Amino acid sequence: MISGTSRGLWPRRRAPLPLRTFSLPPALRRKTAAVILLLTVVVSAYALKVTVNNKIPIEGFACARKLTKDDEVTTDELDGMPWTQGVTRVAALTGAGISTDSGIPDFRGPAGLWTKDPAAEKMSTYQVYVSDPAVRQRSWQARLVHPAWAAKPNAAHLALAQLANSPIDTHVITQNIDGLHQKAGAPADRVMELHGTIYGVVCVGCGARTEMAETLVRVRAGESDPPCADCGGILKSATVMFGQALDVAVLSRAATSAQNADLFLAIGSTLTVEPAASLCAVAVKGGAKLVVINRDPTPYDGLAVATIRQPISEAVPAIVSRLLSPTA
Ligand SMILES: NC(=O)c1ccc[n+]([C@@H]2O[C@H](COP(=O)([O-])OP(=O)(O)OC[C@H]3O[C@@H](n4cnc5c(N)ncnc54)[C@H](O)[C@@H]3O)[C@@H](O)[C@H]2O)c1
Ligand SMILES: [Zn+2]
Repeated sequence: MISGTSRGLWPRRRAPLPLRTFSLPPALRRKTAAVILLLTVVVSAYALKVTVNNKIPIEGFACARKLTKDDEVTTDELDGMPWTQGVTRVAALTGAGISTDSGIPDFRGPAGLWTKDPAAEKMSTYQVYVSDPAVRQRSWQARLVHPAWAAKPNAAHLALAQLANSPIDTHVITQNIDGLHQKAGAPADRVMELHGTIYGVVCVGCGARTEMAETLVRVRAGESDPPCADCGGILKSATVMFGQALDVAVLSRAATSAQNADLFLAIGSTLTVEPAASLCAVAVKGGAKLVVINRDPTPYDGLAVATIRQPISEAVPAIVSRLLSPTA
């Protein structure tokens, strides 16, 4: 499971405290030490829970409910939906489902890569990748023919880009690695790539970053598992694999966008990969209305004011056009 990390979040070491200027009686000292130890254990256990399993259970929300068929709406029913009115700040979390209409298969959908071939999930696991040269060779062959290179943004990417260039303050938080939001014209500073990008390559040894295109030239020329030109280390795409930590700065920007949004759109994601999925709960906690646009049910549907099951490339343009002319 992709997990967040608290590294870098701890306060820096402070200067040494001045020497003790008073002393407690020994019995009281023992009690104080016991209380401090207990507090330390409780705080550490809480911190561990938050960082290792940072899914926020939706049962804790007063607005959580069990959905019925009536909670599903279509874009023909957007008229009069209060969540389309007066929106000034939007955050959109996008998953693989937004890019299937651009010809990039998802992983867990009915025709998904992992649904058809469960063993393929291993290729996205960091520990397997770094320990098995055969997996790396297969990964480089797969990167050579990745559908992202030829893919064009579809109507949903274009609509979100239009929103991101409009007066509505819009942030796109994506789990995708395909660069299609930027290709559609969304300003780069409005797109947060939680799981990195396939357009970059990173060395697991020295951290050097290079362009994917340069490395693919080497693979085409016969290097089946090209090593880092600087240190000879293992190269991988600049994407976050299972077992790797997310970039704390990107995750924290995404959490701020979710927290500040008044409308949070979760688009084309099973909402099962954490901590990305928990951003839905962060948004609702911050006061946003959550709308889930996905063919299949998700664990966060019970927090949503509406769920839309239509094809994403139809639904998202309809929602965006309503947001841009709310009274139409
Ligand atoms: N395009 C990409 O960059 C890409 C592609 C595959 C996987 N991934 C990575 O794999 C992970 C998979 O997680 P995920 O939860 O985003 O995707 P997922 O594959 O787990 O789920 C995609 C969801 O979208 C739905 N869906 C697909 N096409 C749709 C359509 N046209 N209309 C409506 N619903 C549609 C599916 O039914 C499914 O529920 C992501 O974190 C991402 O990093 C990225
Ligand atoms: Zn290196």
